[in-house]
Amino acid sequence: MCGIIGIISKCNSNVVFDIVNGLEKLEYRGYDSAGVVVVGDNGLQRLRTVGKLKNLEDKLKVNPISGAIGIGHTRWATHGKATEENAHPVLTKDVALVHNGIIENYKELKSDLLQKGYKFESQTDSEVAAVYLQMQLDNGFDPREAFRKMLRAVKGTYAFLVIFKNRPDMIFCARNKSPMAVGFGKDVCVGSDASSISANCSEIVYLDDGDYAEVTKNGATFFDNDFKVVDKCRVAVTDDLINTGKGGYSHYMIKEIMEQPSAIRKTLLSNDVPEAFFDNISRILILACGTSYHAGLVGKYWFEKYLRIPTHVEIASEYRYRSPVIEDNTLVLVITQSGETIDSLEAMEYVKKNNSTCRLAAISNVLNSAISRSADCVFHTEAGVEVGVASTKAFTAQLTVLAKLAFSKNSKLLSQLQNLPQACEDSLLLKNDIDKIAYKIKDCVNAIYLGRDSLYPIALEGALKLKEISYIHAEGFAAGEMKHGPIALIDDVVPIICLCPSGDMFDKMFSNIQVAQARGKNIILFTDSVGAGSFDGSVEKIILPSINQELYPILYSIPLQLLAYVVTVLKGEDVDKPRNLAKSVTVE
Ligand code: F6R
Repeated sequence: MCGIIGIISKCNSNVVFDIVNGLEKLEYRGYDSAGVVVVGDNGLQRLRTVGKLKNLEDKLKVNPISGAIGIGHTRWATHGKATEENAHPVLTKDVALVHNGIIENYKELKSDLLQKGYKFESQTDSEVAAVYLQMQLDNGFDPREAFRKMLRAVKGTYAFLVIFKNRPDMIFCARNKSPMAVGFGKDVCVGSDASSISANCSEIVYLDDGDYAEVTKNGATFFDNDFKVVDKCRVAVTDDLINTGKGGYSHYMIKEIMEQPSAIRKTLLSNDVPEAFFDNISRILILACGTSYHAGLVGKYWFEKYLRIPTHVEIASEYRYRSPVIEDNTLVLVITQSGETIDSLEAMEYVKKNNSTCRLAAISNVLNSAISRSADCVFHTEAGVEVGVASTKAFTAQLTVLAKLAFSKNSKLLSQLQNLPQACEDSLLLKNDIDKIAYKIKDCVNAIYLGRDSLYPIALEGALKLKEISYIHAEGFAAGEMKHGPIALIDDVVPIICLCPSGDMFDKMFSNIQVAQARGKNIILFTDSVGAGSFDGSVEKIILPSINQELYPILYSIPLQLLAYVVTVLKGEDVDKPRNLAKSVTVE
């Protein structure tokens, strides 16, 4: 993961402030440490701190540095703890480098460099790239030759930005499986994503794997894997790439929760399903991770019920390592918010390599992301930039696309989808009721979420939301599965959060809740007005608007997101940047 940024001022002004602003937009990629380096008359000047960007900003106030060319980094630690010595930029005598990715052969390279007398200051894999560059300079090679030799020597994934003390007009950058965009406008910039450089740039070029670029204030020259000059297409920076800030909310997560009615409305308006989309498809394979995987699980319920096409959902990080059977004419659907998740991307590439009869589609929230570019066909979730690490609006937008696909041959259900935005808007009014529940569970150590049918994945997702931001251990279960083991977890204190609206599964779910209530005291029910009538005052009830039961997964996600949010705020934890996590997961 990690976020990287480089800026070259066209009018020789100080870039440090803009680098820090860009890093703020990249903090979703990691926040274990941050750093910046500039090059100028005083050579290479660097400042680094452990922890969030705020610490770097404070340090810069006391020890300002300035220069018209610089690179910055916000880290998600892979090799070496989150300490200042492991923070980027990595510096040698003549080289400054930031890296996102993993250098897999770093041990071999390091031992070779150690034998040659080079010293290391950190435990990172990245430092070998910088020291290797230094060795090539010491051997008499110029920066370009040194950079090319380094690219040939390292194995693994990377987005590199490098500045050489003796080439103070240029940033060298290269990409292999870690995202990178070069932007042109007021300044010339390079960043892990378009949003981080959009303030200074109106046009973007996305690097492909194996590409490298030499960037100056006059523009950029792009090279392919064979170091041949290539033309790259510039695209305009569009609104969907721009992070518009918190808009008056205290956290991105709550802003993004509140944006769901509009995200769903927009997603419904776009993404028409081609008439023949499912023709000659004998099977659907959904590949995704985390929250997007939960969306895929809901998709399975819908696809099998309404399209009658056998559907498998696979955790992308497991898929390609278990020699899966890939049947002919499978429609492969990769679901992703970021479009950069390496596990999902690699699973997709695995299918591509192993069965050419498969059709590859993506549901992605980021146009031009690696997964969007690799798919034959893309459904774009119109959620806009999602900054909060816990995915909310992108998830319900993914579900909206899946519903459009699954109901594409059922005009009655398709028309029901139009009721969703209003119902979601009404569900947001439940925040006050949810605040009361949140007070009751904020000090719990564990929580259980129960659902059945297409609300079972929503129980999984509700539990993931709570645990990833509040650090309360939460598990979701299919309610009928409780008696096969998890029921042992029930005691008088554990909250049991039950999704039980009226409909086909109500009676079964009602019985499961009775069984839980016979053993526990803390039942919290999410239901509708019809369902609520069957429960007495011994359970806490949150009553949602009525809607067609097929749409429950989308509607019932929202109060669970709110619950996780409020609990986390009450606990005083960092909602938008939970510990150890990063939003875009570009390492395996
Ligand atoms: C949890 C969350 C993650 C992501 C997962 C996949 O709130 O956001 O579980 O869903 O890392 O990321 P994408 O969807 O970007 O492929």
